[in-house]
Amino acid sequence: MEEKIGTYHHLDPATEAHVEALLTQMTLPEKIGQLYQTTPFGPFDLDDYLAKMKQAEETGTPFEYDPQLREDMPDLIRTGRVGSFLNVMSPRWINTLQRLTVEESRLHIPLLIGGDVIHGFRTVFPIPLAESCTWNPTLLEQASRVAAEEASASGIDWIFAPMVDVARDPRWGRIAEGAGEDPFLGMAMARARVRGFQATNLTSGRRIAACPKHYVGYGAAEAGRDYNTTDFSERTLRDVYLPPFKAAFDAGAGTVMSAFNEISGLPATANPFILRTILRDEWNWPGLVLSDYESVRELIPHGLATDLKDAARQSLLAGLDVEMVSEGYTRHLADLISAGEVPLALVDDAVRRVLRLKIQLGLFEHPYLDETLPERLHLREDFRALALEVAQESMVLLKNESHALSPTTLPLSPQTRVAVIGPLADNRADLLGCWALVNHPEDVETVLEGLGHYLKADALTYTLGCPIKDDDASGIPAAVAAAQAADVVLLVLGESADMSGEGHSRVHLGLPGRQQELVDAVAATGKPLVCVLMSGRPLVIPKLAGQVNALLAAWHGGIRAGRAIADILFGAVNPSGKLTASWPRAEGQIPVYYAHKNTGRPSAEAGTKQFAEAFKSVYMDTPNSPLFPFGYGLSYTTFEYGGLQIENPTLGLEDTLIVSATVSNSGDRAGAEVVQLYVRDLVGSVTRPVKELKGFQKISLQPGEAQVVRFEVPVRELGFTGRNMGYTVEPGTFKVWVGPDSTGELEGEFTVS
Ligand code: BGC
Repeated sequence: MEEKIGTYHHLDPATEAHVEALLTQMTLPEKIGQLYQTTPFGPFDLDDYLAKMKQAEETGTPFEYDPQLREDMPDLIRTGRVGSFLNVMSPRWINTLQRLTVEESRLHIPLLIGGDVIHGFRTVFPIPLAESCTWNPTLLEQASRVAAEEASASGIDWIFAPMVDVARDPRWGRIAEGAGEDPFLGMAMARARVRGFQATNLTSGRRIAACPKHYVGYGAAEAGRDYNTTDFSERTLRDVYLPPFKAAFDAGAGTVMSAFNEISGLPATANPFILRTILRDEWNWPGLVLSDYESVRELIPHGLATDLKDAARQSLLAGLDVEMVSEGYTRHLADLISAGEVPLALVDDAVRRVLRLKIQLGLFEHPYLDETLPERLHLREDFRALALEVAQESMVLLKNESHALSPTTLPLSPQTRVAVIGPLADNRADLLGCWALVNHPEDVETVLEGLGHYLKADALTYTLGCPIKDDDASGIPAAVAAAQAADVVLLVLGESADMSGEGHSRVHLGLPGRQQELVDAVAATGKPLVCVLMSGRPLVIPKLAGQVNALLAAWHGGIRAGRAIADILFGAVNPSGKLTASWPRAEGQIPVYYAHKNTGRPSAEAGTKQFAEAFKSVYMDTPNSPLFPFGYGLSYTTFEYGGLQIENPTLGLEDTLIVSATVSNSGDRAGAEVVQLYVRDLVGSVTRPVKELKGFQKISLQPGEAQVVRFEVPVRELGFTGRNMGYTVEPGTFKVWVGPDSTGELEGEFTVS
């Protein structure tokens, strides 16, 4: 069925007439109300919440939290003093709130419900970083559509995703939420997610608007510490951080969330250059700008605003439409307007954007929800099947070497006696990853359950070994004994869900707790070691990678992770994921990313230890290259690359580069390969990265099968931000590579004149 995609970045006359008709009837407080987004619930009592969660865990009952409505809320809604809510997920609550405005307010303007639907809703998919490792935008579009199905059934109209922040620092916990280090891949994933979220034929009959975030540069947080300062050039802004936002808008996104961070001295939420000059003047984008959670109030600690009134004034003037949670607009806009400090026309424009979105979403016609739909729709079998497929494609095989018994360690044979060891093998909650708004660990299949599909109970033993991060090594001797009695050891290790995500940055990116000690003890048995490594980020694991015979990066893989892992370990599924962020050898290399500049003193051989290369841009103690590069990932089969052809090696600015290569499956299993194309502009009016991804295709090949993979890259897309800060494509010589990862393989050259 042809998917119908909604767009929210256009103006149509009927909608505009409706907007104007409402606007002329609105009082100033009603207008300001539309610019206020908050939670309808009373002060959140964390202790009470945690106690109830613990109780639910102990009794094995699903966790439900029934919050209390804020006392002033019914009146605020009836009088039009609030325009939208965030993260209310109960249809019963939403209908109750909606009735207060639709039936009892003067203008009956429905409420808009926003929510963080980051990697699925009830059907939790792998974390977005993992999803990006599928290199499969079509699959991500489907996954985002499932998220939209479930979220919209629960009443969410506005999804605070995709998170399109390019992230090159794995210390930053929010690297988990995005598509990794590369803008080109980030653009493809941004488009796919927006299309999926904004599918118009949802079962609920409702529509959803995507909200790409966090605009902009949030991923550049200094030292990977969340919310930290960012400071980068306008060129980097334009070439690295902006493109995924532009791609999301071009795919139809009509809203954006401003970021917490400052950019070279000016916090994003009050930054007229990014909110007005770029969005409005350059891109002519008519969409709605929402702040991040209290990011208006945060202008005070940033040291930009003297008080909340000043923060409100600066934000509105800069181009921020809706304020999330803090109350600068509701408390101070009226005064600011009467004092002439904020023109009413700017407020009207912001209100127009909110009303337009509500009309486009169809909320005026269909404000109410079918309260029984979630029950019928959530966790539908086809949704669960898709979550399995995404999990399978997201996992990246980082190593698969021989051991005494076999030329490759994986896949395992069902005859093997396996000692399963580690804190994530019998774990549900952590497999959900960061940002699972609807948190139902009971939906998750564990790794042990997954293995049960392949191994008889007597062929498998399970020992915890040690907890994820607590300082407790008492289980290690039992793990060693279990390893000794088995043919193969399967270590299931890594981070807990709460070690990545918002506000969860780390500086030590090795295995947490006593897990490395566990590995050391088990490795001493000499048994073949397979490691399934779960994490919300690239980890720094040179020792572990050297110790184990096979290593699978499984991320936090969502509700079907356990099954997906077992399918891969036993070869029912051939792994095909490829990394979308480099895995450093040491924290001190960070940021390490493939699209770096060459410098005036490049080292002769990237990737080798450089002790001999004094006065080159190298470290004395570690190679420049990452442990596992961007684009890397193994398969159970082997692929060979040959026959690079550049159809038209001399091109004009309006031409399209056509490059092809033959990829063949030289192994004995069917498999999928992500064929990648990179280019380098050798000499520019400003310096250019040593490589940039400009194309990729995921192909499936039977054993012995070969395919000519053809890339078409418009020369216009080979440009960059030139000296005058405008986009430019410059004549000159370019190198091109086609290969299985960012280290290249086949190499050619072309010129643009
Ligand atoms: C996060 C956003 C999120 C918002 C609403 C903020 O703390 O930075 O990504 O959408 O909260 O939950």
